[in-house]
Amino acid sequence: MSDKKASNQMWGGRFASGPAAIMEAINASIGFDRKLYAQDIRGSIAHSEMLAETGIISAADQQKIAHGLNTILREIEDGKFEFSTRLEDIHMNVEARLAELIGPAAGRLHTARSRNDQVAIDFRLWVKDEFHRVAEALKGLIAAFLERAEQHAATVMPGFTHLQTAQPVTFGHHCMAYVEMFARDLSRVRDAIQRMDESPLGAAALAGTGFPIDRFRTAKALGFREPTRNSLDSVSDRDYALEFLSVAAICATHLSRLAEEIVIWSTPQFGFVRLSDSFSTGSSIMPQKKNPDAAELVRAKTGRVNGHLVGLLTVMKGLPLTYSKDMQEDKEAVFDAAETLDLMLAAMTGMVGDMTVNEQAMKKAAGSGYSTATDLADWLVRSLGMPFREAHHVTGRAVALAESKKVGLEKLTLDDLKSIHGGITEDIFSVLSVQNSVKSRTSFGGTAPAEVRKQVRYWKKRLTKA
Ligand code: ARG
Repeated sequence: MSDKKASNQMWGGRFASGPAAIMEAINASIGFDRKLYAQDIRGSIAHSEMLAETGIISAADQQKIAHGLNTILREIEDGKFEFSTRLEDIHMNVEARLAELIGPAAGRLHTARSRNDQVAIDFRLWVKDEFHRVAEALKGLIAAFLERAEQHAATVMPGFTHLQTAQPVTFGHHCMAYVEMFARDLSRVRDAIQRMDESPLGAAALAGTGFPIDRFRTAKALGFREPTRNSLDSVSDRDYALEFLSVAAICATHLSRLAEEIVIWSTPQFGFVRLSDSFSTGSSIMPQKKNPDAAELVRAKTGRVNGHLVGLLTVMKGLPLTYSKDMQEDKEAVFDAAETLDLMLAAMTGMVGDMTVNEQAMKKAAGSGYSTATDLADWLVRSLGMPFREAHHVTGRAVALAESKKVGLEKLTLDDLKSIHGGITEDIFSVLSVQNSVKSRTSFGGTAPAEVRKQVRYWKKRLTKA
């Protein structure tokens, strides 16, 4: 009785049963690594086939093993499998059940293998699949943006620096900026897949094995380009998980910037876009409100994804070669980041696809804030041969005059403008309109509608090829 009280005081109510229970709780990963069941079984079947082919186990045992593993796969998928914390992780849960199903032959499966290379292959398979899921989701988001960019290649809106009106751009051009970002994310995904496309299976505990295994065979059977080249690195490398998290963090950060823009654009003050009911909520007390909750949550969830990257970098940074149990902490970070990113991408693709663009509001805002001041300065340079610095100065005076008269630059009279510089002619009005401003920006990658359409065509072609 007094003993029990002592252990309660030391470990708290949850661990009333003492040190063994605490050890089990801190050690077990089955609560989360059960997610790897399909990869674990796939890896084990490939391993057993190789063992039989190289004569390390008999064909009869291999058949039993494969049959048993397929039964377990069905049991798990049908929700009939009983996971046990006592058995620590997915690898031991599967192996213990295999022994129940097929008897002693089950014990031969782990020949020339360790949980260290087993977990490495399982996790790689999972991360690789997830990279492919993210690639598909990114393609969907890019397609949604390309559609919007095409519709709005000529829809003018203000472009901002410091969130202050800078120069007019088109909404299509703005959409294409996100196409560039998400296309870079996609190329990072593809690079990372290339780099991780090596199988660690057969590194065994850390030093390789004396059994005559064929690592090229298992690598091929599991869809990897080739086996890894160093057994120590094979069991201690988690770069692929870190790369997944860093790709995810960069992509989430892009999504967050977009989310922030949507939040701003959908305020009544801006009114550039209106979110559909499916991606916003009302307020329980203020009937006029329509809140951009989905965008806000995309913005917030980025913190979570970025946190997982820093978390795993911190787990890994002090680990001596090779495997340490610390590395078990890789999974929850990646699983949660993956689930979160998948949801963020889906929500954003939905929002971009069905938000209503208010062209009138964008156009009105595009012309405010003297957004064509640079065009005026450029005209002075081009038509009067004025040095740009001087043109900047003259334009500043024109803006001040327009400000004092409370009109836009294009509403100043020719006399007003002549009072600022005698050389100004009627021709200047051709550059003061927002439409002409964007039309004139024909430099490669510029905002002119023709240029935007060119970039849309480029990406459409490039993405269908890939
Ligand atoms: N559950 C472990 C993990 O996720 C599997 C590897 C265990 N290896 C070991 N030597 N204890 O990392």
